[in-house]
Amino acid sequence: MRGILRLLFFATFVVTGSLAAVLGVDYGQQNIKAIVVSPQAPLELVLTPEAKRKEISGLSIKRLSGYGKKDPNAIERIYGSSVGSLATRFPQNTLLHLKPLLGKSLEDEASVTLYLKEHPGLEIVSTNRSTIAFVVDNVEYPLEELVAMNIQEIVNRADSLLKDRDSRTEDFADKISLTIPDFFDQHQRNALLDASSLATGIKETYLVSEGMSVAVNFVLKQRQFPPGELQHYIVYDMGSGSTKATMFSVLQPEDINEPVVIELEGYGYNPHLGGAKFTMDIASLIENKFLEKHSAIRTDELHSNPKALAKISQAAEKAKLILSANSEASINIESLISDIDFRTSITRQEFEDFIEDSLLEIVKPINDALTEQFGYYNTNISGVSGVILAGGSTRIPIIQEQLVKLVSEANILRNVNADESAVNGVVVRGIKLSNSFKTKPLNVIDRSVSTYSFKVAGESELHSVFIRGSVYPNKTSILTSANKVTSENLVIDLFENDELFQTVTVNSAVVKNSYSSEKCPSGVAYNITFDLSSDKLFSVQEVNSICQNDNDIDESKQIKNKNSRLSIKSEDVKTKRLSPPERLRLYEHIKLLDKQDKERFQLQENLNILESKLYDARNLLMDDEVAQKGPKSQVKNLSEMVKVYLDWLEDASFNTDPDDIIDRIREIGILKKKIEVYMDSSKESLDFKQFKGMLEEGKKLLNAIEDHKNTVENFLSEYGTEFTDTIENVREEFKKTKQTAYISKALSTWDETLTSFKNVISEIDELLVKNVFTEDFREQLFEIKLTFDMYRTKLAEKLHLIKSGDESRLNEVKKLYLRKFRSQKRKEEKLKRKLEQEQSRGNNQTEPEVIDSKDSKGTLLNDKKTASNPTSKEDVLHDEL
Ligand SMILES: *[C@@H]1O[C@H](CO)[C@@H](O)[C@H](O)[C@H]1NC(C)=O
Ligand SMILES: *[C@@H]1O[C@H](CO)[C@@H](O)[C@H](O)[C@H]1NC(C)=O
Ligand SMILES: *[C@@H]1O[C@H](CO)[C@@H](O)[C@H](O)[C@H]1NC(C)=O
Ligand SMILES: *[C@@H]1O[C@H](CO)[C@@H](O)[C@H](O)[C@H]1NC(C)=O
Ligand SMILES: *[C@@H]1O[C@H](CO)[C@@H](O)[C@H](O)[C@H]1NC(C)=O
Ligand SMILES: *[C@@H]1O[C@H](CO)[C@@H](O)[C@H](O)[C@H]1NC(C)=O
Repeated sequence: MRGILRLLFFATFVVTGSLAAVLGVDYGQQNIKAIVVSPQAPLELVLTPEAKRKEISGLSIKRLSGYGKKDPNAIERIYGSSVGSLATRFPQNTLLHLKPLLGKSLEDEASVTLYLKEHPGLEIVSTNRSTIAFVVDNVEYPLEELVAMNIQEIVNRADSLLKDRDSRTEDFADKISLTIPDFFDQHQRNALLDASSLATGIKETYLVSEGMSVAVNFVLKQRQFPPGELQHYIVYDMGSGSTKATMFSVLQPEDINEPVVIELEGYGYNPHLGGAKFTMDIASLIENKFLEKHSAIRTDELHSNPKALAKISQAAEKAKLILSANSEASINIESLISDIDFRTSITRQEFEDFIEDSLLEIVKPINDALTEQFGYYNTNISGVSGVILAGGSTRIPIIQEQLVKLVSEANILRNVNADESAVNGVVVRGIKLSNSFKTKPLNVIDRSVSTYSFKVAGESELHSVFIRGSVYPNKTSILTSANKVTSENLVIDLFENDELFQTVTVNSAVVKNSYSSEKCPSGVAYNITFDLSSDKLFSVQEVNSICQNDNDIDESKQIKNKNSRLSIKSEDVKTKRLSPPERLRLYEHIKLLDKQDKERFQLQENLNILESKLYDARNLLMDDEVAQKGPKSQVKNLSEMVKVYLDWLEDASFNTDPDDIIDRIREIGILKKKIEVYMDSSKESLDFKQFKGMLEEGKKLLNAIEDHKNTVENFLSEYGTEFTDTIENVREEFKKTKQTAYISKALSTWDETLTSFKNVISEIDELLVKNVFTEDFREQLFEIKLTFDMYRTKLAEKLHLIKSGDESRLNEVKKLYLRKFRSQKRKEEKLKRKLEQEQSRGNNQTEPEVIDSKDSKGTLLNDKKTASNPTSKEDVLHDEL
């Protein structure tokens, strides 16, 4: 991890796209690992809530009885290490290791039977798309949805990690690159893409070869390769579900500024050999020992008890790990079946003897990769510089022994982290494919390990489009031979390794209608464009019909005129993809569940806060000082509250109103604060003198309020007389001048505050008259003092606001006056000038000119008047004023 991190820093780490992040996920059968990368978090492993580096692949789904009133179907989803223990207690609710079922149907008996053997107690059904769904507590969950929940959970964790790194940005993962075994077929790929598309926030998904991910990580870590020298390596990856050997070459071109070239050379795999199989082998050993010892228990009895089988599996998994480092593992299973506690031990020798038959299987993928190379270099085993180990199961000693036998100890490379090389590589590939950031340039040449071909319905021959070893992504067009125009639609069947997986129907109506045999005497040919995408999905992209007319000499013209693109419709054979409505439904469902999870989490957190506040309050009440000198009624009130609320907490559940909890937190807080403030008040004398001082202070404030009122009043009456020429009603203008929103909001409670303050003052006045300043009244006195302080502060603040607000309002009135005054002056000047001019010219009778003024309505009215009914200058002057 650190190595590659440094490397990417070396490579200019420049943002080229948006701030969105790329999430690389090594989606394994047993474990999931993820790395997120964004400008804020350069290559950061997404830890689990328990701070682990890998997450269990799968989840438990349980009914939430406590949530019943809100949503009777509410469920809780549990991820992480607790899923392990739930598997033995609730096998029917625990959905682990779903990867091998992606894109499978119930007809894939080998996969389904193996799965149910490893995970007894689960109910599997077929969807109407022929894919697999699980039924948990009578609710059907399509496999894609369950896998999506796992992905979503990781996306959420990555997003909160990004938020932790920099809370100011709204960074989130919107692109995900997922590892996928090269041997996964079209259905499996589609299923994984569908699952990923259900995760909120994810806009793009990239499927990346597992083996090439490890290769990329290896090359980036190794860094230096001799220029011009072709080297060959094999990634031996034994995961939980399968074993793969990926042979690749590395070439640093002579010109070391050129990027290193990594190229796939060969591939071999076993889809069922892996850690899970070995666990099942050890489980068989344990089972045999148990049945031997307890002859009263029948085999079928044991086999029909999912909890017992889950317990054995779990013990076997543990033993397998122990046997990787020890020669013996003790097994201890409590209440295996019929309350029998079972103890035994398994030796490594026993295990190795048990799997003796499959020893050849272990190295077969490597041999296959070598013998079935794509034919570019045809290197033999001695030409391989090293075998890179990946996948947790390569830790099993017998596996390593077999590999050493094949390639010698020196050629086993253990310098990549077997658990994390794939996730490190897949995130780098994701960055590259999404073009999100600049990274160290690498030239990765990936090749297809399958052959893709097609057949036109009615023909018997299969035509290869991309043969095994073809570089992808790639696109190519194939021209069919010409046929007579018929009324039939063209149907193209697509094959992967000779297995039909999709049927493409080409709508040939256009051909029928416009390609008569006269126009196209040699029939019609089809130009079919095939695509092998970077996710390794094989499809027909477009089909064009071409009219064949031998009479037409100008061939280019022929194509131009008679070539038309036809509409196509693809239908998957066997398992089908999610339909858009179902996709939307599942997407919304996952979103809703996530929202409910968040609410419950928040609720639980608030309950925790309330609980700790209650304990804090109880501690305060137990303080001797508080017990003796505290404010009696409040102490009593708080201790009552603590008791009642602690009882209430016992029964609090998911049905509790969240606001109710928050109210209680606040109540407790206020009361506790009051007591604390009171305890701090020992410094206060709370005597006649202090209250006398408060009274004076209060009266001063009230006087200040009066003073201000008077100031404003004086101004208004003063200007009222002075302005009447210009502003008819100064008071009206003043009232019309708006306060700023901020001030008017603060002043909306002015009257209340003033009244409350006056009440406190008269209360103080009364106290002074009665002179009741004794210890007995201390509590009430203190309460009054607090009330006084509070209102005095509030009122003083408001007065301050009023003053500044009024000042600017008065200024506005003054400015208005000045504006009007000036414009009036200007008009007078103008008029005067005009009169003078006219006088100098003599009384030449012409139409009176319109006096130009936009300032006042009066003038506009006047304009009309003058326009329609010419009047004397005197009239104009009069109206103007
Ligand atoms: C298939 O089942 C889903 C629900 O599981 C439903 O939404 C959809 O309409 C069904 N499609 C067909 C063709 O029956
Ligand atoms: C491997 O190939 C090299 C070079 O092509 C050859 O010299 C060597 O004999 C081969 N080894 C084996 C075991 O076939
Ligand atoms: C793309 O595929 C076609 C057909 O298989 C092949 O002829 C061509 O060389 C391929 N292109 C590349 C870049 O590999
Ligand atoms: C077939 O279709 C492709 C893609 O539209 C086009 O590039 C190519 O020229 C076409 N070939 C012929 C023979 O029309
Ligand atoms: C206890 O405090 C609460 C909240 O301050 C108040 O509403 C209630 O009247 C008080 N009860 C007693 C008995 O003082
Ligand atoms: C009145 O004005 C007109 C045009 O402006 C001019 O022709 C005429 O001579 C003037 N009459 C007198 C008496 O000035």
